[in-house]
Amino acid sequence: MNRKVAVVGGAGNVGATVAHAIAAKELADVVIIDIAEQKAAGMALDMYEACPIEKSDARVIGGGDWAEASGADIVVITSGKPRKPGMSRDDLVRDNFAIMESIAPNLVKHCPNAIVIPVANPLDAMAQALLKLSKFPRERIIGMAGVLDSARMRTFIAMELNVSVENVHAFVLGGHGDTMVPLPRYSTVAGIPITELLSKDQIEAISKRTANGGAEITKLVGTSAWYAPGSAATEMVEAILKDKKKILPCSVYLQGEYGKAFTRTVMGATWASAEKKMPKNYFNELKKYLLK
Ligand code: LAC
Repeated sequence: MNRKVAVVGGAGNVGATVAHAIAAKELADVVIIDIAEQKAAGMALDMYEACPIEKSDARVIGGGDWAEASGADIVVITSGKPRKPGMSRDDLVRDNFAIMESIAPNLVKHCPNAIVIPVANPLDAMAQALLKLSKFPRERIIGMAGVLDSARMRTFIAMELNVSVENVHAFVLGGHGDTMVPLPRYSTVAGIPITELLSKDQIEAISKRTANGGAEITKLVGTSAWYAPGSAATEMVEAILKDKKKILPCSVYLQGEYGKAFTRTVMGATWASAEKKMPKNYFNELKKYLLK
């Protein structure tokens, strides 16, 4: 195919879900990069072997060699530790920042023109870290979070009203964490705002469940979700590759677009909440580094 997507960390749950979905939908050839090289090669082969059944001519390869990713149109970065029950996304900041630091030089070297979709948590901080580490223009670092959070809200609205999820639109903005902002007024069923269809209490419950959506799955499964996050990243990949002009909530570095209150960036929001929990020096240093 004439399009290529690299999935870094693609032997993990979220990465594999994204890689398989891209191949099955015949959106692009897929290169899985993972430190678990052999596993990545094996999973890629398994996905490739599914393609005849999916009627897809996508090629899927995997391993540890970043050179295979060169020329990728999009790099989805799913590497990172997942949450364990009871952990907040922000608890992962130290470990996953170190992983982003190890990825950035390869990204810059092998995929200097790619659009990057960060997925690791805490999402907004990791997106910001990759932006600063890669020095890519901000338009090319687009974090996955809003699509996932909005999909969760859509699911809960559809469940409550017993209607097709296709009729439900929802918007969740803000950081991917405690600062998440579900927007009932802009969430609709067949064009009707949910504020006209559901009671205040129902909306409150849906908003709360949406904000806790990741933790709910983590508690049940024992680790972070992967199907909905994988589908969310795939929707972004499809929208970009097909240049669909689709409006999707994403984590991007703002420069005053939404007025003064937001100039600190949407990404900064998760970060601010992380700061309360981390040793002061570590975070001050990280902050200095990220914001310089
Ligand atoms: C979630 C994790 C992936 O929300 O952040 O499920």
